[in-house]
Amino acid sequence: MSQTTSQTAESPRPTGADLRRGPFREGDRVQLTDPRGRLHTITLATGASFHTHRGHLQHTQLIGQPDGSVVTSTSGHEYLALRPLLADHVLSMPRGAAVVYPKDAGQIVAMADVFPGARVVEAGVGSGALSMSLLRAVGDGGHLHSFERRADFADIARSNVEGFFGGEHPAWRVTVGDLAEALGDPELGEAPGSVDRVVLDMLAPWECLEACATALAPGGVLIAYVATATQLSRLAEDLRQAGCWTEPSAWESMVRGWHLEGLSVRPEHRMIGHTGFLLTARRLAPGTTPPQRRRRPAPGASDDAGVLVSPWAEDSFDDASLGVRGTSDKKLRRSARDAARIAGARGAAEEAAEDAGADSTGGGPHVAPRDA
Ligand SMILES: C[S@@+](CC[C@H](N)C(=O)[O-])C[C@H]1O[C@@H](n2cnc3c(N)ncnc32)[C@H](O)[C@@H]1O
Repeated sequence: MSQTTSQTAESPRPTGADLRRGPFREGDRVQLTDPRGRLHTITLATGASFHTHRGHLQHTQLIGQPDGSVVTSTSGHEYLALRPLLADHVLSMPRGAAVVYPKDAGQIVAMADVFPGARVVEAGVGSGALSMSLLRAVGDGGHLHSFERRADFADIARSNVEGFFGGEHPAWRVTVGDLAEALGDPELGEAPGSVDRVVLDMLAPWECLEACATALAPGGVLIAYVATATQLSRLAEDLRQAGCWTEPSAWESMVRGWHLEGLSVRPEHRMIGHTGFLLTARRLAPGTTPPQRRRRPAPGASDDAGVLVSPWAEDSFDDASLGVRGTSDKKLRRSARDAARIAGARGAAEEAAEDAGADSTGGGPHVAPRDA
């Protein structure tokens, strides 16, 4: 016999859940799609109206209607009304800093294993986009401590997050300050070894590694989102240098939309080719050193004595640090000889062709045909 379980009527409702379902109410954010597919987000208020050059519609036409209704403007144009999903909210909300896109937020939650009840540290908070996904993942019983060094960005983030959850989220704490300094602060930060996950989205995450290593519990996950390959490399090398992390793993994700129209079912012509790279590493138990890598480190990753060095220490790029295989002198000499031989052979062939053209009316395969 099968059994199902459900939340009892007495269980407290998760923060913001009630705003995500039921008929449209005053104060709800609603996304209207016009006949040309353009999106307009409005906040419902009695007495207010939505105006476009295609006439207007009263908000009261929507209040009390089910999510997914169609309303008609005074000029007879139809608008589809839907409650914005988290992804819609993130893409339409006011921004201080660039946001983590929903496809990356999903990867962060999944690959950093952000679980209900987890203690998570995040920096910087920026516009609060990622904070919303993290809060949903940790739930009301978890703890998300977001650090942001710009007070003005932190204010925008607070408004965005509260707008989405319909008020303060019980699991969220925002601290204005630099993560590298504030995380270990007895009043502002987190106790050593108490944090399950750290999520970094900032220009120079390597500056915060020491503070993160102290705060993370053994086995805890660090995940960082960076925009460029050079940041990714610097972060990976610094993690290896620190000696208290597992081998970092990095990836990017690309989402390609599909066009679905009758028999024309194919990838969209346009896509977002790049947002950022993700990197994860896990905190080793205190006093543990990373196991020897079986794979030989890339040329330039260690010094003559085999000690790991960061190519970023000298801020220089050369073939060795980029892992480009050099060419031996012997091979160079052979290449030079081969090139000279090919050039000589071509010269000889051209001379022969010229000679043949001068005293013959016939033509070999390399002789240009005469004009008719
Ligand atoms: C790209 S934004 C973060 C966007 C955010 N994840 C979102 O989804 O909305 C980067 C933020 O990190 C902040 N920041 C950079 N370094 C920091 C640090 N060391 N500590 C705290 N915040 C930092 C910046 O002020 C900026 O607001």
